[in-house]
Amino acid sequence: MSDIHAMMATSPVIPVVAVPEGADAVALGRALADGGVGIIEVTLRTPGAVDAIAALARDGALAVGAGTVWREDQARAVVAAGAEFIVTPGRSLPVWEVCRDTGVPLLPGAQTTSEIADWVAHGLEAVKFFPAQYAGGIDALKSFAAVFAGLKFCPTGGVSAGNLADYLAVPAVACVGGSWLTPADDIAAGNWSAITGRCREALELASGARG
Ligand code: 3PG
Repeated sequence: MSDIHAMMATSPVIPVVAVPEGADAVALGRALADGGVGIIEVTLRTPGAVDAIAALARDGALAVGAGTVWREDQARAVVAAGAEFIVTPGRSLPVWEVCRDTGVPLLPGAQTTSEIADWVAHGLEAVKFFPAQYAGGIDALKSFAAVFAGLKFCPTGGVSAGNLADYLAVPAVACVGGSWLTPADDIAAGNWSAITGRCREALELASGARG
């Protein structure tokens, strides 16, 4: 599961998207790609999520991951649809087992020292710190990074254009995730240029944070 580093290196920001059923997932993906963001986490929170993953994987403009994956059947479904990585909001050993068996990289959620330690014990090299902004924010993240040397983090939950640079300035942070890049209204209206613009803004902020 070490390829998670390659996935996280794709972009300093990962859009976390609940794609509404019937939305044009490919157009959405191209809007992200036009904005320089080569990756997406499609959450399994809408009825059309697995179809959206399949459409995006076929299109090939982005690295496509699946998020909010809790159950084994969900993990198998998204792998079959072409998901290149899987994200969980928290602890799910059934999902970990599917990733171990299929070789699909896993970015598992963790909020506490014990949860992070558990994933490290399972051989994981990166975690999603979720919900970052409400579980201690940057100060908590720095404390975790000091304890778990070498572990990489993707803080998500309450991350936005206003604070992404502060998170990315922490060396243990490989990337940040969030839904702010792709508001539901813009997806529903097909307002792709607004989404592309937010991606460009986020990448500029990210490069400012990292020099
Ligand atoms: C997730 O599943 O990662 C979160 O819903 C994203 O959090 P945000 O909506 O606060 O960005």
